[in-house]
This record gives sequence, structure tokens and C-alpha cells, in this order.
Amino acid sequence: MFPIFWILLILCGVNSEEIDSSGYLAYCPCMGRFGNQADHFLGGLAFSQALNRTLILPPWVEYRKGEIRSIQVPYDKYFKVEKLLEYHRVILMHDFMEHIAPQIWPPEKRISFCYLERQSLNKENTKKDCYAKDGNPFGPFWDTYNIDFVKSEFFGPLHFDVHHSDVAAKWSQKYPSSNWPVLAFTGAPASFPVQMENRKLQKYVVWSDEIQEKAKKFIKENLPKGAFIGIHLRNGIDWVRACEHTKTSQHLFASPQCLGYNNEKGDLYQELCLQTKEIVVKQLKRLIKKVKEINKSNEIKSIFVASDSNHHIGDINAALGRMGVSAHKLDEDNPHVDLAILGTANYFIGNCVSSFSAFVKRERDVKGFPSYFWAFPKERSHRYENKHDEL
Ligand SMILES: *[C@@H]1O[C@H](CO)[C@@H](O)[C@H](O)[C@H]1NC(C)=O
Ligand SMILES: *[C@@H]1O[C@H](CO)[C@@H](O)[C@H](O)[C@H]1NC(C)=O
Repeated sequence: MFPIFWILLILCGVNSEEIDSSGYLAYCPCMGRFGNQADHFLGGLAFSQALNRTLILPPWVEYRKGEIRSIQVPYDKYFKVEKLLEYHRVILMHDFMEHIAPQIWPPEKRISFCYLERQSLNKENTKKDCYAKDGNPFGPFWDTYNIDFVKSEFFGPLHFDVHHSDVAAKWSQKYPSSNWPVLAFTGAPASFPVQMENRKLQKYVVWSDEIQEKAKKFIKENLPKGAFIGIHLRNGIDWVRACEHTKTSQHLFASPQCLGYNNEKGDLYQELCLQTKEIVVKQLKRLIKKVKEINKSNEIKSIFVASDSNHHIGDINAALGRMGVSAHKLDEDNPHVDLAILGTANYFIGNCVSSFSAFVKRERDVKGFPSYFWAFPKERSHRYENKHDEL
């Protein structure tokens, strides 16, 4: 009953003054780009559910070339709000500020939450404070809704791991909704990468009709009829630098999605993070052959490539042309349509370390679609030596 009530509420825009006496939770997705924000979103959703507070849906924070201030894109530009309501109570941030905030969160009651005091960008500021609006995207985010904070609240040692402790009850004890109708966090109340227990919440993150239409239209008008493999090639210069960390760490960004959260499935290695075009071509050929063996009438006809830098369209066409397979990419830069297309592909090969790939993998897991990772599992380099040993 509950979800339907809220769907009507959101769709009709009536009754929007209905106040949730259990309180609200807001946060700034202030870390990273879309992939990281999506990981954090699932954590924030689980956290607000555990605290039984309505989640104020933060807009997505985007950065445009040549602009110093981040741009805030409403949650529902990309995803359906109704679907989230099947899991928990949520409200768009704009709607909250327009209809609810004037009643329960007047300017003089706006307090920002952070674990410990943060340092101000301005060295002359020595007061203990969250400095929730210091820097980009912190300032632009709250400015989008004309929010200023009058005070800070340091919530440590409370934390966000509601799955392995009774911390949710402790939050409610320390910050009852009667005194604290809104908890506004300086950053996401969630871990990165997404906790294993929260991965399944991806089910409630469903593309908006607008994005789905664009994805469908591209597939229909640009890909040859037949099955296709979607691939994600993460290879920009920032990524090349980030992959240096594979030498010294056990985990990097989204790597637990294939290596396991405790490295149950192996250690980190360079090829998992950054692939040569030889690895890409070899793995594509292998998958195309495998698909052919399994089902002759469902042959791979094309490859859809999403990339932040080099799509390798020419290389893939040169290598796979003789197999009757062509490579394609969007004409425009549109990572969300990229993601939506990758989510519907017959097969997907992604980058295990990338949180952008992780979004696709989670969505496909929900749908029961197959996914693979580049250079995973690791090829055993000692195979030949072992053979000699055995001989
Ligand atoms: C959770 O919040 C809803 C909405 O305010 C309320 O109706 C419900 O009783 C709360 N549940 C618990 C267990 O407190
Ligand atoms: C093979 O692929 C075709 C086309 O996608 C599908 O209709 C058919 O059911 C598949 N057959 C098997 C045995 O999976």
C-alpha cells in the first residue's frame, strides 16, 4: 500500500505538504563522477532505509569542461523515481525544498553533518566546522537549492555500516526525528566501493523513459540486426595514472566486483585495470566464437564501444571485419546512454576496476544478463613451465 500512496503523491504533486514524521536525510554526492556517485547512492539509499528516514534524492553532480562550478542534474533526468518507491520513501530534492523545507527546515535550523571537523580551504577559518560548502562541488551543490548552514554537527564515532552493527538504532537515539527532522550530510553516508549487501539495490535504479528511448533508437538505427557485445574501454590519461596503484594495492576502486571484497578471487594486477588493444581483440574473438558454438542462430554481428578516451573502432573493425562483425559508438558524448546500451547488450565485457563498468555489471546481474571482465580471470603465466614440469 505504502509505495502506491507515494507514487500518487509524486505523480500528482498533490499532498506534497505531507510531512514524514520519521524525518529526512540529505547528502551531497561530492566525490567522483557518475560511477562513484552511483555506488554511493546505493549506500545512501540503504542507510536512509535503515534509519527509516525519507531519502532526499540528491541531484547528480556533473563537471563540464571549462566551467569552474559543478552542475546539478535532477535525479529523475536519468532515473525513475517511482521505482525507488518500491523499496523506500524518497523525494526529489527540489520538491523537498519547495514543499517540505519551509515547514520543518527553516534557514536557522540547517545544520551540516560530518564525521569530524573538516579543514577550510581558507586557512584563516579556524573554527571547528564541517565547512560543508567549501570548494567545488560542495558550494555549488547546496547553492543550487539556496541552502546555507548555520552550524555543524560532528557525528563520529557513529558510522554507516547498518549491515554489521546496530548503528541504525544508535543514530535514532542520538538524533531522534522529533529534534532532528533533517540530517544533511557533507558527503555520502556510504562507503566506496558499494558494500556487497547493497549491490542488489541496483534493481530500483531504472533508467528514465528518455534515456531508454535514446538507447533503443541508437541500437535500432545504427547496429546491424542480430546480437551484439557491449564493451567498456577505460583508457584516458587519468586512468593510466590511476592504474599505477595496481603495483602497490590489493584493491582499487571497483575491483572487489571481480576479485572479491577480501581478494578471495585473487590479487590486483595491471591488465585488470588497463588493457592493450591485443587483449581486447583476443577476448572479443574468443567470445564471438564461444557464442557461435552455443547457438548458431544468435551470432554476434556487432560491438558497441563505450570509452572515456580511445574507442579503438578502427582496430576492432580491422581485427573482426573478416568475421562479419563491425564496431560502433555514439556520435555524441553521452555516458548515460552509453550505460543504458551496455545494460541491454547480449553480452558485456567491462573493466573490473572501473565503477562505470560496475554500474553496468550490477544492472545486468539484476536482469540475469551475462557479463565478463577484461583480463579476468588472470591467465596463468606459469602454465607452460608447469607443463614442462609435468612432462
Ligand atoms: C517508519 O516511518 C514511517 C513513515 O513515517 C512510519 O509510518 C513507520 O511507523 C516507521 N517505522 C518504524 C518501525 O518506526
Ligand atoms: C538461439 O538464438 C535465437 C535468436 O536469439 C533464439 O531465438 C533461440 O531461442 C536460441 N536458441 C537456443 C537453443 O538458445
